[in-house]
Amino acid sequence: MSQMGAGPVRPIAIIGGTGPAGMWLALRWARAGETVIIGSRERARAEQAAAAIKARVGEHAAVSGLENSAACAAADILVLTVPFEGQAALIKRLKSAMTAGSILIDATVPLAASIGGRASRTVGVWQGSAAEQARELVSNDVSVVAAFHNVSAELMGGDNPLDCDVIVCSDDRDAAQLTRELAAKIPGIRPIDGGKLENARIVEQITALLIGLNIRHKGHAGIRITGLPPIAYR
Ligand SMILES: NC(=O)c1ccc[n+]([C@@H]2O[C@H](COP(=O)([O-])OP(=O)(O)OC[C@H]3O[C@@H](n4cnc5c(N)ncnc54)[C@H](OP(=O)(O)O)[C@@H]3O)[C@@H](O)[C@H]2O)c1
Repeated sequence: MSQMGAGPVRPIAIIGGTGPAGMWLALRWARAGETVIIGSRERARAEQAAAAIKARVGEHAAVSGLENSAACAAADILVLTVPFEGQAALIKRLKSAMTAGSILIDATVPLAASIGGRASRTVGVWQGSAAEQARELVSNDVSVVAAFHNVSAELMGGDNPLDCDVIVCSDDRDAAQLTRELAAKIPGIRPIDGGKLENARIVEQITALLIGLNIRHKGHAGIRITGLPPIAYR
């Protein structure tokens, strides 16, 4: 399925792309020459975000803004970057706009902050993880991948290479490979084949730990997994 490698891939729609997690992924992919559509509940907000990215990258940047459902309809690579409290309702609303064969890359972390708790804690999700909740809610012809949970959006929004591994989990090997190739387009990010989607249960939890470490040590923590053979990092 992957048509990638070094060249640009198909358009990437970032649903909820006006917040730091989505917007700065968009920035990095726009810099890498990818075509990115920012999605928002309000088209005007999406257009503002797209304009802000163009101001950073240059007018040649292939970035535009659309309302979320129009963004879904315009791309078959979808990246979901919304707070956990909005994830389920938004997926239900967008389900009919997602085209058959789409890949939904979910970065949602079920932080307890969603229900008024601490950002350094998570809430239990019946399906096991936010990503598995997403899989339950999309059509069977949409593949779900979990990725980008452990990357600091603040560092992503800067100009320097990142220093972080991205663990990619999915039950669809092709969708996972495409996601890893997309992650590798961001300088300093090293994607790792994280196995099945159920492993998102663990990866999502790591983010809460990183947030706690950031609060304690006033930093922007990321992760590096060492000791694996090169094939794990492709
Ligand atoms: N920030 C990070 O460092 C980071 C890192 C890794 C993963 N994540 C995860 O990525 C997700 C997004 O993080 P973020 O910091 O970018 O979040 P955010 O700024 O709170 O939200 C992102 C966007 O989601 C939309 N949104 C907010 N509430 C919504 C709702 N109830 N229903 C539908 N859309 C809603 C908003 O866009 P519109 O108002 O324009 O629609 C908002 O700009 C979260 O699940 C977070 O845990 C974050």
